[in-house]
Amino acid sequence: MGESITGLKRSHMCCHVNETMIGQEVTVMGWVQRRRDLGQLIFIALRDRTGLVQIAIDGNTAPKEIFEKAETVRSEYTLAVRGIVTARTEGNINPNMKTGKIEIIASELRILSESETTPFQIEDNITVKDDLRLKYRYLDLRRPCQLKNIVLRHQVVQALRSFLNNEGFLEIETPILGKSTPEGARDYLVPSRVHPGNFYGLPQSPQLYKQLLMVSGMDRYYQIAKCFRDEDLRADRQPEFTQVDMELSFIDVDDIMDINERLMQKVFKDIMNVDVQLPLQRMTYKEAMERFGSDKPDVRFGMELVNISDVVAGTDFVVFKSALEAGGSVRAINAKGCGSFPRKKIDSLVEFVKTYRAKGLAWIVVNEDGSLKSQIAKFFTPEKLQEIVDKMEGKPGDLILICADKDKVVFDSLGALRLELSKMLELTRPDDFRFLWITEFPMLEWDEEENRYVAVHHPFTAPMDEDLELLDTDPGAVRAKAYDIVLNGYELGGGSIRIHRRDIQQKMFELLGFTQEDAQERFGFLLDAFKYGVPPHGGLAFGLDRIIMLMSNAPSIRDVIAFPKVKDASCPMTDAPNVVDQKQLDELAICFNEEILKAAAAETEEA
Ligand code: AMO
Ligand code: AMP
Repeated sequence: MGESITGLKRSHMCCHVNETMIGQEVTVMGWVQRRRDLGQLIFIALRDRTGLVQIAIDGNTAPKEIFEKAETVRSEYTLAVRGIVTARTEGNINPNMKTGKIEIIASELRILSESETTPFQIEDNITVKDDLRLKYRYLDLRRPCQLKNIVLRHQVVQALRSFLNNEGFLEIETPILGKSTPEGARDYLVPSRVHPGNFYGLPQSPQLYKQLLMVSGMDRYYQIAKCFRDEDLRADRQPEFTQVDMELSFIDVDDIMDINERLMQKVFKDIMNVDVQLPLQRMTYKEAMERFGSDKPDVRFGMELVNISDVVAGTDFVVFKSALEAGGSVRAINAKGCGSFPRKKIDSLVEFVKTYRAKGLAWIVVNEDGSLKSQIAKFFTPEKLQEIVDKMEGKPGDLILICADKDKVVFDSLGALRLELSKMLELTRPDDFRFLWITEFPMLEWDEEENRYVAVHHPFTAPMDEDLELLDTDPGAVRAKAYDIVLNGYELGGGSIRIHRRDIQQKMFELLGFTQEDAQERFGFLLDAFKYGVPPHGGLAFGLDRIIMLMSNAPSIRDVIAFPKVKDASCPMTDAPNVVDQKQLDELAICFNEEILKAAAAETEEA
């Protein structure tokens, strides 16, 4: 069956039918959530994007043919129903339903299409594997919890646009087929048919184009931009994601921060009715690492890192001693009230930090009577152990956790451990939104593998004026005019003031190990543009998916993207990526080396 809607016009969305319309005729269309048969009475809960409304078909009054048709209706059939809005009798009122006080007594019912049994129930609390959900993502999106995220995303984008339009920004699209200039993640490549052997690169971000738009005099640009990065997936990372990307001319760091924090304030107020207090907290990268072991700290709770290197310096415990001698540090956190953790649980924390390359985790329990218990007690005098506890402000019932290693390992391990404990102890609420800026990032970081400096943000990020001289003497110590906006432990966005002086850009390329030819080959078009009057400029990009994930308290950005990819960057619904016809390959002059292909397949299998 598949009746047409000819002659019927939808008058209302399901959930917009209400008590003020009693006695009125309405026409609704949607999907069958469920059908209940009570002998001479059939109830159908009809669902559309707005929610549910109850249709009643009374065998005593409805035309026989409608009643018989209603008996055949099953879940997820699509229907059109015309009828009279009627008050439900007292006992039938459903307070849990927005339209629970009324129902529509059907006088016409058309089955527009039938449905097979769906692979899972179309409702919120179901237990079903993610892969199955995503194979049938179009059905998954019928579930209210998923639909809600898509609607929220729409509303946020509208609020963002409206704010930026009012601030004098122009919305401008930039190419998807661009030049491959990999730096950071891997590029996705698209082979050219017209230029055999040549490739376009999909943009990792519109970075270079937006800077060129500043040279063009566009002054303020934004774009809701699709970005592509061939990197490993995580809960907050997809190969294809969306940035709210912007660039501004004749501005400095404070101007960009000011606009963007007002932007977040407006969006959170308009959409969530959450008040964000401005100005946002600002913290240098150095302070964030020292206090939280992370450049995207969750500041909703304490349990901060404390450097106890000076307290343990000079003691004989070889683990601490060798870490300090190697230029590392010994740091600790105080897990308040966790002194009662059973030994097994403490051991699991030790195992946990090993995934962050820590060689171990020392612990001290402050017993209720104030005495101390520790697996490293024998290496210290009781006074020394007490001194550590005092430095950590340890009180009876506390658990002190200590890590010694290179700073990076200590920060990563204790930073992650702090988050793990906050989950265990439920220290945070998802509706407590704590934004902050992280500033003064290092400009360069040494890449052991490549044996050269790489840009922490990107090669166009300007050094801080006060550190310009260090470019020649100690490049690793140069701080950048770069900033991230962080929310509840996630990097929500990041940006920088760009280099607009050619001599500094040249210096930067040198530090990154690019020859003049390399730089010209990769970024020549930008360097050329900079010959013709470039305004001081800078910008920022938010991860839109992450904003929506945090607003909706979704477990992954997958839940806020209409058609996301799964872990191996594939799409279970369309089966992309797929093998293509030989004809297509021939046109692109592509042929495979079977041996390399086999080796690559074996490698991904292993991973
Ligand atoms: P950056 O690389 O920091 O900066 O990216 C900006 C923001 O984009 C989001 N993001 C992602 N979201 C989902 N999946 C991913 N794989 C992913 N990668 C990044 C993050 C991040 O903060 N052009 C610069 C911005 C600038 O300097 O103006 C840039 O792309 O939320
Ligand atoms: P070991 O002498 O190596 O057996 O270590 C003694 C104790 O110190 C063990 O309980 C380890 O868990 C702990 N430990 C080992 N390495 C570290 C480290 N890098 N930081 C903190 N504690 C450690």
